Amino acid sequence: MNINKLASKFVDSISEPSKLSEASFDLSAGVPDEDSLPSDFLAQSVKTILQTSPKESLIYAGTKGYLGLREWIINNYQLTTNQNYNSENVSLVSGSAHGLDNIARTFIDSNDIVLVNSPTYPGALRTFRACGAKIVDISLNGQIDLENMSQIIAKLNMSKKRIKLFYIVSSHNNPTGMSLDNSMKSELVNLCAKNGILIVDDRAYGEISFTPQPQLSLSAVTPHEYIIEIGTFSKTIATGIRVAWIIASDNVINKLDTMRFDNGGSNLMQHVVHNFVSSKNYLSHLAHIRNLYEEKRDVSASALEKYCGSKIDFSIPNGGFYHWLKINNGIENEVLRKRALQKGVGINSGNIYYVNSDDKEHLRLVYSKLNLSDLENAIQILSTCF
Ligand SMILES: Cc1ncc(COP(=O)(O)O)c(C=O)c1O
Repeated sequence: MNINKLASKFVDSISEPSKLSEASFDLSAGVPDEDSLPSDFLAQSVKTILQTSPKESLIYAGTKGYLGLREWIINNYQLTTNQNYNSENVSLVSGSAHGLDNIARTFIDSNDIVLVNSPTYPGALRTFRACGAKIVDISLNGQIDLENMSQIIAKLNMSKKRIKLFYIVSSHNNPTGMSLDNSMKSELVNLCAKNGILIVDDRAYGEISFTPQPQLSLSAVTPHEYIIEIGTFSKTIATGIRVAWIIASDNVINKLDTMRFDNGGSNLMQHVVHNFVSSKNYLSHLAHIRNLYEEKRDVSASALEKYCGSKIDFSIPNGGFYHWLKINNGIENEVLRKRALQKGVGINSGNIYYVNSDDKEHLRLVYSKLNLSDLENAIQILSTCF
């Protein structure tokens, strides 16, 4: 028996899942600073939950998940949004990666078109491809060219292609760190809704903001039943807890729930996260990590200017975990990536963030993970590879 023949035909069309880097200096994994993981606060919360709600937290959560955390999430959402939703419009998932999978399996049939902002999060590309979607990229070079996007949609509609959804990281995009202007967010929602296209607003970095006014979600700017918002505690608390959420209209959320068969994510972790985020410890933790990542952004930006100078161009992000570097001296990103790895620095080439993987001139540098001195050392080593 040839096992290869038994695998889904889509397995070969997706890229390898991302792996943890083995490099001594990791500028590639988009993860929180390890020293800032709130392990003491979480330990306190685990203890409290197991003492006060052992039975409630150790049974299946039910598909949508623990009500207390869903209520906290919707109250937080309503601080910026006029959409009239309640806790029934929230579904807790095991990481936003699971949320994307849930959305893709609920809405995508083979050969459906999915539009994505480009460059974009490769995890989303592979998830949509695994459902047989054809992906069409919409260039997001700072801002979206809405005129061009409407022409692309019109052309696809004329050729009777079914466009199901548009995936976008509208605030602090992975990999570019950039956010859409509010006026553009609004026009984008209207364009998609007019054409019957669902919009997935991935807010993975929404809380990692360095400005006094955080970037607004699409729903905050223009509430609409076509918007599906995904959020996660992976970047603000820890990746290992696997607690994230989807907020959507009744219609959408009921379909998503119908497609799941896991009796909910980890009920215990949902209780623990709720206990932590409802305490004032969470506010001080958020303030701490925002300052920390802002400092890391500044230190890495100065090191890039000092050591790499005119060999690269980049814009300063006002949130998120990433610098998006454009290589100016003609060396291909894959060459640089390999050279850097040989010198102990892990960094991602830009090609993996594009639908056609054809980019040769960008690198994505993560400033969130390393401590300040390793960050500067890693950038100094990287500069010797150009
Ligand atoms: C834009 C974006 N969405 C989703 C995820 C997945 O996060 P998680 O599954 O840990 O919530 C990531 C992780 O890097 C990301 O960058």
